[in-house]
Amino acid sequence: MAVNLSGRSFLKLLDFEPEEIRYLLDVAKEFKKLKLTNTPHKYLEGKNVALLFEKTSTRTRCAFEVAGYDLGMGVTFLDPTSSQMGKKESIADTARVLGRMYDGLEYRGFSQKIVEEISEKSGVPVWNGLTDDFHPTQMLADLLTIEENFGRLKGINLTFMGDARNNVANSLMVASAKMGLNFTCCGPKELFPNEKLVDECRKIAAENDCTITLTDDVKKGTENADVIYTDIWVSMGEPDEIWESRTKLLSPYQVNKEVMANAHDDAIFLHCLPSFHNLETTIGKDVYEKFGFKEMEVTDEVFESKQSKVFDEAENRMHTIKAVMYATLK
Ligand code: CP
Ligand code: NVA
Repeated sequence: MAVNLSGRSFLKLLDFEPEEIRYLLDVAKEFKKLKLTNTPHKYLEGKNVALLFEKTSTRTRCAFEVAGYDLGMGVTFLDPTSSQMGKKESIADTARVLGRMYDGLEYRGFSQKIVEEISEKSGVPVWNGLTDDFHPTQMLADLLTIEENFGRLKGINLTFMGDARNNVANSLMVASAKMGLNFTCCGPKELFPNEKLVDECRKIAAENDCTITLTDDVKKGTENADVIYTDIWVSMGEPDEIWESRTKLLSPYQVNKEVMANAHDDAIFLHCLPSFHNLETTIGKDVYEKFGFKEMEVTDEVFESKQSKVFDEAENRMHTIKAVMYATLK
């Protein structure tokens, strides 16, 4: 199948065929080679993009900015404190204005409906930089990192531990089903993913010879895993009061050396980041003072171990986001 993503938005992986995801990963690999050999690749010179952030970010913002500059584009960053967005002007009006000026828009915010609306109203490609439901650009970096470590995606066993119905876990389930990885969600039943999404992913997985498993049993969920993945216990936009119940529910699903020892010997550890693996953050210290957890979703030992590929994964955000902007704007 000849892949052409020109003019498309990138809102969720459910909208993309496995061949299209494969194409984006291959383009990202080429861009990574160009970057690492210092070879200029200003293929989108003369174009401009705007990055809209209603939630905070380090990796996603910087990945879009550097990728945009490397491609030769002008890049504008907007957040609610420095623009009218949300307070004095609706998202729909903002999208219609920006669509007249920019060639593409990135949006990070709350409901998935908003990013869909921006795409519909702006008339230019829109890239989802994280919503409450999905985090699709993160998935491309994760798939690339897995492929770099194992030389393949098909048949890889990926276990997500923790808050299994958050944006990252939902997206990993979709990405796995599309690309032939066996996905296990390992967490408390209360936080299992939405049944409708699980059913949809199981149908996709059946077409791609892989499986979706839900379990609250840590031993069963992590044995035979090639990749152990986790995320923070409370996501952006959730209320602070939830920390108490979440720490209780999720502490049995912490990624520690016993979990890694139960997985395959060559298993790797991934995390979208940011991570609470020590007390060097204000939230980390606060949670420690209130509830006594020195490390949360992953121990410092695992985070800093050779099995941890989290910084390769973070770097890959930039190469993969570059591929998405290039493929949709060229
Ligand atoms: N992984 C990720 O999206 O990181 P940021 O929140 O720093 O963008
Ligand atoms: N689930 C996290 C992901 C951060 C990249 C959040 O939404 O805060």
